[in-house]
Formats: sequence, C-alpha cells, structure tokens
Amino acid sequence: MYAATITASLLAAMPLLVKAWDAPTYGDYNLIWQDNFGGNSGDRPNSNNWNIITGKLGYNSELETYTNDKTNLQLSGGYTLQIAPERDSNGDWTSGRIESRYTFVPAEGKRTLIEADIRFGSNSINNKAGIWPAFWMLGDSGRHGTAWPNCGEVDAMEQINGALTGYGTLHCDVVGGKCNDPSGIQGWVSIPDQDWHLWRVVFDRTNGDWTAQTITWYRDGQQFHQVSGGRVGDYNAWAAVCHSSLYFIFNVAVGGSWPEPPNDSTIPGFGSMMEVGFLAVHNSK
Ligand SMILES: *[C@@H]1O[C@H](CO)[C@@H](O)[C@H](O)[C@H]1NC(C)=O
Repeated sequence: MYAATITASLLAAMPLLVKAWDAPTYGDYNLIWQDNFGGNSGDRPNSNNWNIITGKLGYNSELETYTNDKTNLQLSGGYTLQIAPERDSNGDWTSGRIESRYTFVPAEGKRTLIEADIRFGSNSINNKAGIWPAFWMLGDSGRHGTAWPNCGEVDAMEQINGALTGYGTLHCDVVGGKCNDPSGIQGWVSIPDQDWHLWRVVFDRTNGDWTAQTITWYRDGQQFHQVSGGRVGDYNAWAAVCHSSLYFIFNVAVGGSWPEPPNDSTIPGFGSMMEVGFLAVHNSK
C-alpha cells in the first residue's frame, strides 16, 4: 500500500518534470513549423521531420562516422534532442547528424525567423578539443544536383573545441566567389556559458529591392552578424540563400580542417554533446 502510494504520487509528478517545451511565440510573427523533440528517452527524432544520416561523409577531413545508435543520437525524453560524439575501442570516432525532410523558403515580402535553443554537454572546455557542434541550413537544390557552395549554406551556430564563441556564416556562389568561399562571410559572438542559449537567423525580404534584403544572426536576441544582398552583389547567389528552399542540419563533427584534432584529453559521450530544445520557423504577419 505504501509502495503503491509512492508510485501514484511519482506518476502524478512526472508530467511536471517533463512538461512539453515548445518554441516561444511572438506577437508580430506566426509560428509556421516546429519540432519540440518530444518522445521517449532513447527514441530517434521523428522520421516524418528528419533523415538520420549515417556513414563517413568525408567533408572537411572530419574524423567521425555517423550512426543511428542512441549513444550518438537520441531524444532525451524531456523534450530535447541529444547528439553526442563517441570513441570506440580502436580510437575511431562516431557521432550523429540529422537533416530535415522539412524545407522552407524565406517568405517574399516578409521576415522569416528560424531559431533553436541549444546547450552543450558539461565537460570542461579542456576536454573538448576537436568537438564541432553545428546548427545550420543548406539549399535544398544541393540535394538535387547543385554543387556546393552554389546551393547556398547558412550556418546559424557553429562552435569548435568547446570554446565559448559561436560562429555564423554565409556560403554562396562558387569557391573564390561572392561569399569568400570556402571560408564564407563569417561573424562571431561570445557565449556566456555552456547552458541554454537561443540561436536565431532572420531572413528579411520586406524590401522588394533584393540588394536591401538581409540575413541577420542573433544569440539570445543580440545581433552578431548581418549580410545584405548588396554585399553579396549577385542576384543568383543571393536568391540561393534568401529566396530558395532551405533545410536544417544538426550535427556534431569531430576533428577535420577547422577545429584542433581531438587529443588524449578529449572526452567522448553526452558530456561533449549538443542538446537542442526546439527548432521553430516563424513568418512575420
Ligand atoms: C588537448 O587540447 C586541449 C584544448 O586545446 C588542451 O587544453 C589540453 O591540454 C590538450 N590535452 C592534451 C593531452 O594534449
């Protein structure tokens, strides 16, 4: 009887502990799509929304092989997505990457706001050499034959080696072209700590003149990067990133051409993860 009472009261308390965690809404925007990563602990993200990418993709000389194992990719059961790098007994790295089946086109005549709440695993920065979490978008044309960077890429947030700096980057046109690729046009901002922070990109097509349209990056509402159509200076290159269908990617890469290589201090597992609270898309009214 005593045990049954405890169980009943625990069950009653559970919904409070794992209350649905939705994206914030804004008075001057309509929420048009979100994934709040609800589901049971250990489940994979909703396959209606996401493709789970597996294998060694070979980009940027990265070390990881992507798997769909829950040690690399899972829902927490508390309305979050967790992506964690792992190292096997041979010293080889695995990790997780998902790409959205959902696509959106920044709305003509409006502002389209996309954002995700993200935190990092609690391992010390000294134990994160080589770890490279990212929240980013690619032009859907890249899934249908258009080469990179011509397909367009908008990186909302990237972080390397656990350092408390977030990078936002635009890639377009051709290597050596309008977006300074392969480096891209980049801005950065400090991150106060490894806890939850809100990463947002606003595509502003309210001006009919494409040269006055902008893509703007924010961390916790603080603007840290902006690129205008005029700065890109080529209509087709701008249209690929601001007038065309884009899809979302969340991944944690390991090593490669940008971060340091992982070293003997790098600790695999959820302490080096990227955790995502929600992903949302809004259009201005
Ligand atoms: C690994 O790299 C980190 C970050 O640069 C550094 O703090 C740490 O001392 C390095 N550890 C080893 C064993 O090289």
